[in-house]
Amino acid sequence: MTEQKATNITWHKPLVTRAEREQRNKYKGAVLWFTGLPSSGKSTLAHEVERILFDRSCNTYVLDGDNIRHGLNKNLGFSPEDRKENIRRLGEVAKLFADAGVLVLTAFISPYQADRDQARSLNEQGRFFEIFCKCSVEECEKRDPKGLWGKARKGELKEFTGVSAPYEEPKAAEIIVETDKYNLEECANQIVLCLEKHNIITPAPKHKKP
Ligand code: ADX
Repeated sequence: MTEQKATNITWHKPLVTRAEREQRNKYKGAVLWFTGLPSSGKSTLAHEVERILFDRSCNTYVLDGDNIRHGLNKNLGFSPEDRKENIRRLGEVAKLFADAGVLVLTAFISPYQADRDQARSLNEQGRFFEIFCKCSVEECEKRDPKGLWGKARKGELKEFTGVSAPYEEPKAAEIIVETDKYNLEECANQIVLCLEKHNIITPAPKHKKP
């Protein structure tokens, strides 16, 4: 547990409620938490799903591991402690976005189950979707768009997830997308359908055939 240092702080109740925001938006704020090995397709898929949701008039935002490490989390590396702090902060940020009525999509390796559970615990029941981008090590290594798997295998990169740092597979993910078996569109549709089924968004109107 992270220690709370500040004393004499009081929770201020907002005048605009989450329920009011959601009533106006006509969809629910939620966290779509993508997790998986490096190069398993988290970011690509998160952006693809965002495109679909945005085009269906939802407010959306993608939080991406590499990008956040340029700013908010620039003081963190890849030790187990730093990864824990990375996910702790981002879990809090994601919760704020969801509270604001946004469909927030996060793309972090988030290798530890306990840290993902902690991020989940900040949210109301049914508003956090753990999405496991399941992809074999062989396929991730073959894709390797940033060349990091190659560097890690040669010993040039320490503490690399999948080679010299652990990845704990989700135990009870809401969604498992097999990115080495299905294409981008199929995986994205699987996620969107799940959101419809759980009443986060309303189903898209069916197009009438001419
Ligand atoms: S996490 O483990 O703390 O969740 P995060 O998703 O923020 O990681 O960052 C992972 C990204 O950092 C990867 O996509 C990769 O581009 C880059 N990276 C650099 N070094 C490492 C490393 N040692 N292990 C994993 N990813 C690394």
